[in-house]
Amino acid sequence: MNHEDLLALLGKMTLKEKVGQLVQLDGGCFGAGDMSTGPREKLGVTQEDVDVCGSVLNVLGAEEVRRIQDTYLERSRLKIPLVFMADVIYGYQTCYPIPLGLGATWDPDLIRDDYRLIAGEAVADGCMVTFSPPVDVVRDARWGRCLEMPGEDPYLSSRFATAMVEGFHGDGAPERSIACCVKHFAGYGAPEAGREYNTVDMSEWRFRNEYLAPYKAAVDAGCELVMTSFNTVEGIPATANKWLMDDVLRGEWGFDGPVITDYAAVAELIGHGVAANAREATRLAMNATVDIDMKTPCYAHELEGLVADGEVSMEQVDAACLRVLELKNKLGLFENPYRTCSPERRVEVTCSPERLASARKTCGEALVLLKNEGDVLPLDAGEDGPRVALIGPYANSRDIIGMWAIHADKSRSVTLADAFEEVLGPERFGWAKGCETLDDYSELGDFGKYVGITSGVDDGPSADELETEALALAAAADVVVMALGEHMLQSGEGGARTDITLPAPQKRLLARVRELGKPVVLVLFNGRPLALTDVLDDCDAVLEAWFPGTAGGRAVADVLFGDVNPSGRLTVSFPHNVGQEPLYYAQFSTGRPAKGSAHSGRFVSRYMDAPNEALFPFGYGLSYHTARYENLCVGTGSLRAGEKLRVSVDVTNESQVAGIEVVQLYIHDVAASRVRPMLELRDFARVELAASETRTVEFEIGEDQLRFWTPEHAWASEPGSFEVFVGPNSRDLLAGSFELI
Ligand code: GLC
Repeated sequence: MNHEDLLALLGKMTLKEKVGQLVQLDGGCFGAGDMSTGPREKLGVTQEDVDVCGSVLNVLGAEEVRRIQDTYLERSRLKIPLVFMADVIYGYQTCYPIPLGLGATWDPDLIRDDYRLIAGEAVADGCMVTFSPPVDVVRDARWGRCLEMPGEDPYLSSRFATAMVEGFHGDGAPERSIACCVKHFAGYGAPEAGREYNTVDMSEWRFRNEYLAPYKAAVDAGCELVMTSFNTVEGIPATANKWLMDDVLRGEWGFDGPVITDYAAVAELIGHGVAANAREATRLAMNATVDIDMKTPCYAHELEGLVADGEVSMEQVDAACLRVLELKNKLGLFENPYRTCSPERRVEVTCSPERLASARKTCGEALVLLKNEGDVLPLDAGEDGPRVALIGPYANSRDIIGMWAIHADKSRSVTLADAFEEVLGPERFGWAKGCETLDDYSELGDFGKYVGITSGVDDGPSADELETEALALAAAADVVVMALGEHMLQSGEGGARTDITLPAPQKRLLARVRELGKPVVLVLFNGRPLALTDVLDDCDAVLEAWFPGTAGGRAVADVLFGDVNPSGRLTVSFPHNVGQEPLYYAQFSTGRPAKGSAHSGRFVSRYMDAPNEALFPFGYGLSYHTARYENLCVGTGSLRAGEKLRVSVDVTNESQVAGIEVVQLYIHDVAASRVRPMLELRDFARVELAASETRTVEFEIGEDQLRFWTPEHAWASEPGSFEVFVGPNSRDLLAGSFELI
């Protein structure tokens, strides 16, 4: 349909039909076995509301989508199709590692290819819009939704935001392309104290310099929708924040697509205390140019009255409705209301060999080797190799796909035990659960029972029986691999924690195993940075596996047995303890830096009982090779606007095994009109090095990469001295300098 036809259609619509397009209901309102809670009645919407509703939340399944669309269109006066939207965050049926792991690949090109495959799998089963990518900058490990985000750095997160949107769009062919919705706009990843849904409050200067870039990258890459976040921005909830949604998103960034709220966020304006009732909440959201009300009856029941009373104009309703119609038109729904939804294609693409291989490869790049004392890894899988005991709640668990893979079939997950059995055979390998994941599952609430996620077993073996079996297995082995981690429900939405260490029963088991004196390899399954200080000495090696996804077991085995040389590098800082949170590498110096201050030891910016630095810093990760960085060269030593400054470094693989180095480039603006972080990532390169190979790695810095949001409310660089750093992580760096003229 062309634009004129859309306008003509709009002209035929009644006000109620226009308002209906601005309402998103869950599948329960259409009689589907939906993922969300509560049928129509509980939501308080009528059948008439359903009959004019514009979009559906989290219903998938080609047959179900077709059934709902057919039933809906039969009752629709103007035959405007529904659009089906769902959370396909880091995988549909084939699940990739959680985005913290995807970020750890430092490989946006690979992730772009992965997201193209995700799109093909999801659209075959009826999804037309995905509520992804989530790209909130995260710097507080207490927050449960770290798992969904690429990391703590705005530049790196922006690179992934672009790649994910481009991947979802693919080549634009309907069967390989899905519309996407960047979220959660904006600043949701910075809740005070890391507590879920808590207040976010910071200066505009910081907000713009450190939190907005990834969303803008997604908008610039062409994401079709933007989702409002639950939090406030300078005291106004995002869903009612006209400055954020209209001035910045639409005015400054030129975004002209639909803005959809997060789940029930319009009604939550009452809870926030900025609206006295649903009518007020509706008016505020509409005035902020929020187009779609997800999962509340506010727009459905209040908007007509607001228009009748002149508090919301018909032009506002028309503009919002047109943005929704344009989305449906872009998806081709007026010509084909099912888009590419096809049970036949679903069989063909779901968990296809290509997708499973892709998930395994990506997972292999996402794993981060944090410790490898005495090169205990890789393990020898050959005939003369060690007998391996695999112990822990994650030894044979399929709960390795993470909290936000709600449409995935976890029965397809490859467990560690599956993979070890394949590699070692039953005679050289055994596994034991060893202990429960948690001492007390009640902290998980009852959510785990609803989505089929095991929350422990009531009638299983006793704790003593579990431990006795595990210790016997360990005693008979040459090396012990401990598969430990958070329960899958201890991260994700609603998963904020104040204790970010490994769960108690697992630490007890690890200590008992350590007493046997065997080499211990710890494989971690978690959705956030953990505080590992209290277990590090009990392990010779530590491999961070995140929630590794469908192919997780195989990818972990690939690294443990040396088929893959780990190249993953952290995109979030791992603390010594939770007291350091929020913790991130891009800190400001302060007037009394812990190192180099003119003041005496006590009176500098530090803790008495912990270091300032991370236990494992941003950008950190080990490999089976070692590399030497030398000969940092910084071009002419000066840079003018419009020029490029060449920076190069020689990287040598000092080992006899090929590997990948993630060469990272940081800058520091030494003196500016606002304090600037001591380090800011500005570029990186993944470099494959053959055994003993030396490569000169080159970067180019432009004046535009030195800009920041200035007191004059503009993006600008300021002439002066800059430091430039290059190295394998944010700690071990070669330093140089240049002048911006
Ligand atoms: C949830 C999440 C959001 C998700 C939405 C729809 O509360 O905050 O990320 O897309 O609801 O499921």
